[in-house]
Amino acid sequence: MAVGDWWRYGVIYQIYPRSFADADGNGIGDLDGITEHLDHLAGHADSLGVDAIWLSPFYKSPMADYGYDVADYRDVDPMFGTLGQFDTLLAEAHRRGLKVIVDFVPNHTSDQHEWFIESRSSRDNPKRDWYVWADPKPDGSPPNNWRSSFAEVGSAWTMDETTGQYYLHSFMREQPDLNWWNPEVRDAMDDVLRFWLDRGVDGFRIDVAHRMAKDPELADNPLIEVDAELRGSDRREALLAASNGGEDLRDQDWPEVHEILRRFRRTISEYDDRMAVGEVYLLDMPKLVSYYGRGDELDLCHNFVFLHQPWKADAFRAVVEEFEGLLPEGTWPDYFLNNHDHSRVVTRYDDGGNGRARARVAAMMLLTLRGTPFLYQGEELGMRDGPVPPDRIVDVDGRDPERTPMHWDASPGAGFTTGEPWLPIDPEHERVNAAAQRGDATSMLSLYRRLLQLRRGSPALRQGAYASLTSAPDGVFAYLRTTSDEQLLVALNMTSDPVRFAATPQGAGGQLELSTDPGRHIGQVPLAALDLGPDEGVIVRLR
Ligand code: GLC
Repeated sequence: MAVGDWWRYGVIYQIYPRSFADADGNGIGDLDGITEHLDHLAGHADSLGVDAIWLSPFYKSPMADYGYDVADYRDVDPMFGTLGQFDTLLAEAHRRGLKVIVDFVPNHTSDQHEWFIESRSSRDNPKRDWYVWADPKPDGSPPNNWRSSFAEVGSAWTMDETTGQYYLHSFMREQPDLNWWNPEVRDAMDDVLRFWLDRGVDGFRIDVAHRMAKDPELADNPLIEVDAELRGSDRREALLAASNGGEDLRDQDWPEVHEILRRFRRTISEYDDRMAVGEVYLLDMPKLVSYYGRGDELDLCHNFVFLHQPWKADAFRAVVEEFEGLLPEGTWPDYFLNNHDHSRVVTRYDDGGNGRARARVAAMMLLTLRGTPFLYQGEELGMRDGPVPPDRIVDVDGRDPERTPMHWDASPGAGFTTGEPWLPIDPEHERVNAAAQRGDATSMLSLYRRLLQLRRGSPALRQGAYASLTSAPDGVFAYLRTTSDEQLLVALNMTSDPVRFAATPQGAGGQLELSTDPGRHIGQVPLAALDLGPDEGVIVRLR
C-alpha cells in the first residue's frame, strides 16, 4: 500500500470510549473494553471490516466535558485505564491491521491542567501568557462580546478573582483557551503530538481545528441574532449560518490558524504515513477547504455542511458537487453523518417511522461517495438517540442521547456493563443489538458489512471518479463511480414513493449488486427503466 492509502481509501470508525464497552464493571467504558471488542471491527470473519479507529479523548480529565477538558495530555485517565493498557490496545489493533487515530484537543485545556493552575496563580507567573487573559471593561464587564459555544455557559469570559482579570473559554468555564500566539504553547503542543507519534499512533483528529487563532486585539464579534431558545448543534448551526456572508467572526477562523496547522503538519510528517483530520466546524465550504491548505495543512476536513442537510436528494447532491469542485488539487474529500455531538441519523431523519429505512440509504450514500467515510459507534446497528430522562441529563449541551451506551447484546447491561451505566441504556437494545444482528442477513449490521466488503473489493468505489447522474428524477440522488475497468451506478431514492427512471438512454442491463431493501432480488436490472422502491438505494454494476 502506498503512503496515505489507508486513510484515503479506508473507512474510519469513531469510538467514544465512555460508551463503548466497560471491562471493569464501573458503568463507564474503558480501554480494556475497547481491546476486548476489536473483533467486532476487524480481523475476524464476522467483523464489520473497518480500516481504522478514532478514539475520542481518554486522557486525564476532570470530565467536565467528558474528556474534552484535558488535565494531562500525556496520560490516561484512571477511569479509562493506564498508558500500558493503551499500548496493549494499540498493539492489538495493529495486529488486526487497524490503524489508530487519537483525539488531539489543542484549543483549550482543563482548568485543572498544571499549566492553567500556574497561569492563574499570579499575573507574573511564567505561564500567565499561555492562556488568554484580559482586563475587565471600565464597568467591570467582560473584555468583549464573545460567547461560549455552549448556550448554557453564556459569556466566553470568566473573572478570576485572584488576579482580577478575565480568562477566555470558548466552551465551558472549566476549559480555558490556550494562547496560540505564544511560541512556548506551540512548542509544548508539538511535544504532545510527538509523545503519541512516538508511541505509535497513526494520526490525530484535531478538535475544533478552526478555533485556535483568534483576533489578538480581542475585538467584538459582529452582532448575530439567533432564536434564544435554540440549543446544541441547532444553535451552533444557526449562529454559523447567520454569520456566513456577513462580517467575519473574531473568535475563530483567524488567518494565523493556517500557520498553526502547517506546523502540525510538519511535525506529523517527521513520521511515516501518519495523518490529521480536523473538526473544522465552518458551514461555508470555500472556508472549509482552505483548511487543506495547498495540501500542506489538514489531510482531511470534516464536512459539517454535509451532516446538516435535510433528507433531500438535491441538497446532498449540491454539497457533494460543491465540495468536489472546491477541493484543491491532490486533496481528498471525506464524509460523516453521525458523531458524539449530533443527533443520530435514525432519529434525525425519521419522518413517521422511516428513520431506519432512511438510515440504510444514508449508509449506502456514505460508503459509496468519493471520499473517506467516518462511522460512529452504534451507527452500524442503527442505534437511535437514546431516551434520557431529565434526572439523568449530564451534558451541558444536550448531547447525551447520541452518547448512550453501545448495544452488544440483549442482556440488561446490553453487554456494555455489568454495573450501573453512566447514561441510561436504550431499552430498544433488547431488539437492536450486535449479537442479534450478526447472523441476520436483513439487519443493519449486515448491510454495513456488505457495503464495506463491496467497497473494499471495488477500486471504483474506493478511488474512482465521481459524476452525478443528471438523468435522475427529483428526489433521487444518483451517481457513477468509475475507473478504467469498473463502473458502478449508485441510485438513492430519498422519497417515500416508488420511482422508475431511465438511468441510461441505451437501455442496456446492469447487474444489481446490492439494495438497501433486503427483500429485493439480486440479478440483472434494465437501465432504461430502473425501479426503486420507497426509501430504497441500489448499487448497479455497469461494468
Ligand atoms: C468538539 C468536540 C465536543 C467538545 C468540544 C470542546 O466540538 O467534538 O465534544 O465538547 O469540541 O472540546
